[in-house]
Amino acid sequence: MNRQILVTSALPYANGPIHLGHLVEYIQTDIWVRYQKLRGNRCIYLCADDTHGTAIMIRAKNEGQSEEDLIASMSQSHQQDFARFGIQFDHYGSTNSLENKELCGIFWTALRNAGLITERTIEQLYDPEANTFLADRFVRGTCPKCGLTDQAGDNCNCGHTYSPTDLIDPKSTLSGSTPVLRNAIHLFVELEKLRGFLTQWVEEGNHLQTEVANYLKGHFLSDELRDWDISRPAPYFGFEIPDAPGHYWYVWFDAPIGYIATTEQWCQANGESLAAWWKNDECEIHHFIGKDITYFHTLFWPGMLQTAGFNLPTQVHIHGFLTINGGKMSKSKGTFIAADTYLKYNNPSYLRYFYATKLTQRVEDLDLGIDEFARKVNTDLVGKVVNLASRVGKFAHQTGLADHYPDDGGLFDQGVKAGDEIAAAYECKDYSKAIRRIMELADAANPYVEHAKPWEMRKDPARENDLRAVCTVAINLFRQLTIYLAPVLPDLAEQCSQWLGEPIESWDQSKSHLLGTKVGKFNRMLDRVQIEDLEKMIEESKNTAEETQETASSSFCDSDQPLKDEPLADEISIEDFAKVDLRVARVLAAEHVPEANKLLKLQLSLGGDERRQVFAGIKAAYEPEQLVGRLVVMVANLKPRKMRFGLSEGMVTAAGPGGAEVFILGIDDGALPGQRVH
Ligand code: MSP
Ligand code: ZN
Repeated sequence: MNRQILVTSALPYANGPIHLGHLVEYIQTDIWVRYQKLRGNRCIYLCADDTHGTAIMIRAKNEGQSEEDLIASMSQSHQQDFARFGIQFDHYGSTNSLENKELCGIFWTALRNAGLITERTIEQLYDPEANTFLADRFVRGTCPKCGLTDQAGDNCNCGHTYSPTDLIDPKSTLSGSTPVLRNAIHLFVELEKLRGFLTQWVEEGNHLQTEVANYLKGHFLSDELRDWDISRPAPYFGFEIPDAPGHYWYVWFDAPIGYIATTEQWCQANGESLAAWWKNDECEIHHFIGKDITYFHTLFWPGMLQTAGFNLPTQVHIHGFLTINGGKMSKSKGTFIAADTYLKYNNPSYLRYFYATKLTQRVEDLDLGIDEFARKVNTDLVGKVVNLASRVGKFAHQTGLADHYPDDGGLFDQGVKAGDEIAAAYECKDYSKAIRRIMELADAANPYVEHAKPWEMRKDPARENDLRAVCTVAINLFRQLTIYLAPVLPDLAEQCSQWLGEPIESWDQSKSHLLGTKVGKFNRMLDRVQIEDLEKMIEESKNTAEETQETASSSFCDSDQPLKDEPLADEISIEDFAKVDLRVARVLAAEHVPEANKLLKLQLSLGGDERRQVFAGIKAAYEPEQLVGRLVVMVANLKPRKMRFGLSEGMVTAAGPGGAEVFILGIDDGALPGQRVH
């Protein structure tokens, strides 16, 4: 039976350009949607720009334009970027729409009627020059605990957390002026009243990945849920709350409602009813989001939907964050790469393919290493898949396809058999597995052409039938691979369709042969990636990328792993912590210890002439060569320990369960050996 499926990606903020990090999500979602459509399910993919909030207001002001003009031009550039990456929405809306405003009113009334809204006066810092209340991240000052200057509004590098009103000498980052304390009334949602419902929703029905459900249970649902501050006083760019003039809904209230408002617009354009999608048990709702916005989508949003009587999400699919060359995207390293910059140097299919090879159903971060990227695209995608077509392309145009499928030693049938497994991998978002299986098929197909040597057959007119048979097999195998890859590589599928004169519209086409037809002239389908182009892209990205609202730590609230396996230790004072002398150290030498099966022997420099010898249990996880030259964080004042192989004078810090799963702590560029870690 065909499923009815509504899919969304998170609504990107309208205050910055789309970058490669965002694209992890939009490409992941687009692949899933294309897969569902190929399977014949009724599926729509909706998204919109998230337009409200202080950041947009300030940016518009700085640029001397209205918020409306700013968000209109942003929306255009976002949509253009998405389209160029083959991300195909059924509708792209905006949270600043009439439909959204009206729906916000409906949700609001429902929350009021359910007795979930409460009002409190809070003291907040106010910027008298910019005339606005300041969110924590717009205030910096001196830490009240340790005296470090220029610290964030809610926490200091020393680890202390506080409220921005506790800062010594606070400054507004908007105007540089000294903020003043002002009272303001805020409206709150009493989420605690929904805890029973939310706990059940999180625990039952498979709506969330297990790691996410465990995390929510361990961090939030085990304790009283805090009231959710849902309003902001004027001035604020957003919707004014009808029964509380001078107060606006906080951007995170109207943003997810934007999913429904966008559906409403799509319905209007397509003669459909909203209720068929959002008030219908038969309709599945799937949200794709990044781990940093878990909390909003798994607690607030289900709470709002439940209260207002809309469908709850069938599943919230949460992905990890992108790193580039092993590190956070960074403007100085040129790894903060805008979609637009990527496209100047690269084909969008490369990125779609590469992300697919990396994505699984887990909430793991994924790394785009430039070398791995080039290798996967060139060796696998171009070298194995596209090459299969190019090797017979010219001859096939002359011979056409045979009327009967020749003996291929079982290759095509083997491909048919793999189909269900590949489909299941797409369905559960294990794209990396789907691609592995597809590449195994490609690996089996290529030797067939190598052995048959069509380029030799061509020289002998008496072997025209043989040549046609080889072309028929190679093309049918290529076509099967292309159908399996169609969700990931719609451009390749389109080129294949054009070439063979048969649109690729359904997964089931992979089960039957294409026979007895002419084949068009062969055009090159995809070139190899050039490393120089990747280097140029990085060079161009250095320090030119615009500031965006990238979340600082990109943590899935704070951690990927539920803490339940290893509960937090008892509280300690800052003095206790100061007893541990953590230092930056450089690995000067690393070698195997032949007698020990877990240890590597490291020579560490603490700067100057200070040296330490440390035996570290990381042999299963690291090769000595990988370590030499890099910085680590060591416990420098640990009592030396005599071991069978020599003295160990400290400890290298690392995380992970052990064995091959050990991850050494790194430190950002710029740190020097000997520096203390606070
Ligand atoms: N506006 C909110 C979402 C509101 S949804 C009702 C927002 N916008 S965002 O532009 O910051 O991010 C959009 C999506 O991109 C989020 O799901 C976010 O997790 C994802 N990503 C942003 N940077 C990312 C990486 N570096 N890596 C992977 N995903 C990233 O959040
Ligand atoms: Zn401090």
